Amino acid sequence: MFNEPSNALKKGSNNDSDGNPKSAIVISRLSKIYKNKVTALDDVSFTAAGGVFGLLGHNGAGKTTLMKAIVTILPPTAGTISVCGFDTVKQGDRIRSQIGYLPQELTMYPSLSVLEFVGYMAEIKGVYDKRRVQAVLEQVGMAEFTGRKIGQLSGGMKRRAGIAQALVGEPQVLVVDEPTAGLDPEERVRLRSVLSRYARDGKTVILSTHIIEDIQQLCKEVAVLRKGRLFFCGTTDDLRKQVEGKIKIIRLDQEEQLSALQSQTAVIGTTYENGHLSARIMDENEAFSQYPPVTATLEDAYVYCMGGKADA
Ligand SMILES: Nc1ncnc2c1ncn2[C@@H]1O[C@H](COP(=O)(O)OP(=O)(O)OP(=O)(O)O)[C@@H](O)[C@H]1O
Ligand SMILES: [Mg+2]
Repeated sequence: MFNEPSNALKKGSNNDSDGNPKSAIVISRLSKIYKNKVTALDDVSFTAAGGVFGLLGHNGAGKTTLMKAIVTILPPTAGTISVCGFDTVKQGDRIRSQIGYLPQELTMYPSLSVLEFVGYMAEIKGVYDKRRVQAVLEQVGMAEFTGRKIGQLSGGMKRRAGIAQALVGEPQVLVVDEPTAGLDPEERVRLRSVLSRYARDGKTVILSTHIIEDIQQLCKEVAVLRKGRLFFCGTTDDLRKQVEGKIKIIRLDQEEQLSALQSQTAVIGTTYENGHLSARIMDENEAFSQYPPVTATLEDAYVYCMGGKADA
């Protein structure tokens, strides 16, 4: 049901011969098997071309592995990745100058100040203009903390400094691995606005996240990985439509009925109202046709994609 990869939307200007923006990432039949024989990615293909592209999946689904392969630090076992028209294996140098990367854990250089850290990362990228460093720190709202040591930043500030170093080289492509995880709502909103501002003008952002609001507010398209395989690829609206007409609310008289229900269908969530337990279900096999469907949300589709009965 969710296994129909679709081509990414194509943008109008600044396009290559295939109609993709120059910042496009084209992943073709990608597999990665680690030395310990774990298959982290299995025959994954999709295109991300302009705007914010969401990468979703359970812990261990393969998101970080895919991102490391895109930013050229992990060679694929099979398949290819093209970034801005260059091959990640054969033309890694060309790609590294066009790409910014925020790793899942940014643990580097705790004793450097924010200014020193971003300045150092800028020089690695061949950017020697200190005004650019200052500008990018302002962009992420870190101008007043430039003297603070990396090791003494809060989680949100650290993430912002991480985004600053990823943006300082003015890359065409930005790869950010769970940038909003563990942040308070205000920090999340701030980071989202930095990412959406950056994604204008045909630039591509690949964002991995477990947070539904990130997807709702930022992503035009998403790819869902399950155990290393591509489970869904398409627009967020297409994702929502996958469950449209199938979301039902079942009122339960006793709590024990819940486990019986779970063995029959995918339970998206439960609520208590006026002392009654209700289950929100995905009626995939129309076993509950007597119940009218309710409006399906992106969250329904996401929760269903992440687990439920289809995971069995
Ligand atoms: N260096 C490595 N050596 C061996 N196996 C690895 C390595 N890195 C990751 N794996 C395995 O590859 C699979 C995918 O891991 P990956 O980190 O890509 O998942 P993820 O989707 O990013 O998960 P999370 O949401 O927890 O960050 C997991 O089974 C993991 O244990
Ligand atoms: Mg990860």
